[in-house]
Amino acid sequence: MLSYPRDRTCPYQPSPEYQELGEKGPLHRVSLWDGKSIWMVTGHAQGRSLLADPRMSADRSRDDFPVVLPRFEAPIFKPIALIGYDPPVHDIHRRMLAPAFSLKHVRDMRPAVEALTSDLIDRMLRTGPPADLVADFALPIPSMVISNLLGVPYEDHEFFEEKTVGLLQAKDAAGAEAAGQALWDYLDELITAQEDGADGPGVIAALAGQIDDRDLTREDLLRIALALLIGGHDTTSQMIALGVVTLLEHPDQQAAFTEGSEVIPPAVDELLRMVSVTDVSGVRVATEDIEIGGQVIRAGEGVLVSSSMANRDPSVYGDPYTFDVHRTGRGGVVSGRQHLTFGYGIHQCLGQNLARMELEVAFSALFTRIPEIRLAVPAGELPSRSGGTMQGVHSLPVEW
Ligand code: HEM
Repeated sequence: MLSYPRDRTCPYQPSPEYQELGEKGPLHRVSLWDGKSIWMVTGHAQGRSLLADPRMSADRSRDDFPVVLPRFEAPIFKPIALIGYDPPVHDIHRRMLAPAFSLKHVRDMRPAVEALTSDLIDRMLRTGPPADLVADFALPIPSMVISNLLGVPYEDHEFFEEKTVGLLQAKDAAGAEAAGQALWDYLDELITAQEDGADGPGVIAALAGQIDDRDLTREDLLRIALALLIGGHDTTSQMIALGVVTLLEHPDQQAAFTEGSEVIPPAVDELLRMVSVTDVSGVRVATEDIEIGGQVIRAGEGVLVSSSMANRDPSVYGDPYTFDVHRTGRGGVVSGRQHLTFGYGIHQCLGQNLARMELEVAFSALFTRIPEIRLAVPAGELPSRSGGTMQGVHSLPVEW
């Protein structure tokens, strides 16, 4: 039985071992670090069906919930807001947050994101070449955006960026708990300062005004603030970084981002499909026996839907390992948005409108203003994250 997870050998393609599994069928048993095993779903239809199935629970406080990596044993993850709750609590909190992440609100935020992206490029042009595209570009964009949206002072960014990486990259539960607790204490103080602020500067202050000890407790708000702060910057920054690597390795595809056309949104979705930055669309536990893909998932068994493999299911995508910003799906339909990079069902990414907008702005500004940009080291020598599911590079040296 294959042990999970396996590192990638190419920053934008799934591990070769997953590719072999995917060729054998849609569902597979894989073993975890703790000796337990779990279903890994590589089929697109089966992944969607399971993520939309109310018999699958996302409740991370359940004893039978699979612990995919040692750090997820840390109490801070049990449960994490939204993503770790089932209805009805999940739906109540999600409804409270929907307006801040709506398409309309995201459109209103776009000019500010364009301005800050342009400032970052000005600074890179002033001080470089070379530059580290993670520290100088890919991280500050989502980090500034989420701190403005939440009302977290950006002056504290070094602290919350470091602790987020500490939480998400910790090798064990103790390391994750220490980083998570530091973020928790920080947000606790911030909420105290904003508590009476329905007209404060962001989502945290607005929610602080809605605490009613029934639908929203103070602890719920802390968990929500933590989930948004963590979810809001590491995923998007690494998607920018690995998206740039993918585009630099495919120079013929960069024009989609410089022609200012309607090609940009589908090109972003093709990048999202290709990179599958979280590698996983969702982890769940079955609460009843479920028959699917010729197998029976028993009540109490864990399931992990692989976005990188579901996004390469040949029944949905022709030539699935090829990066093609002009891709159309089977039957000529534009297929970009069918990918499972943002998950599926009730937990589908709350921040996807925001992430798509940030990615559109980042790639188009970068390739328009620095068309000569290139990697300063071969793609195979980039310092990649390893041993986890969230993909990324610690730094991304570029020159022009
Ligand atoms: C490229 C960037 C991003 C990727 C690839 C991504 C991926 C995902 C995925 C796969 C899920 C579903 C997890 C599951 O079902 O278990 C998810 C959920 C979520 N994401 Fe994102 N995300 C991104 C950006 C963001 C941003 C910018 C935010 C903003 C705060 C965010 C906040 C959330 C939240 C709160 C959830 C939980 C939603 C729920 O349970 O209802 N994400 N994301």
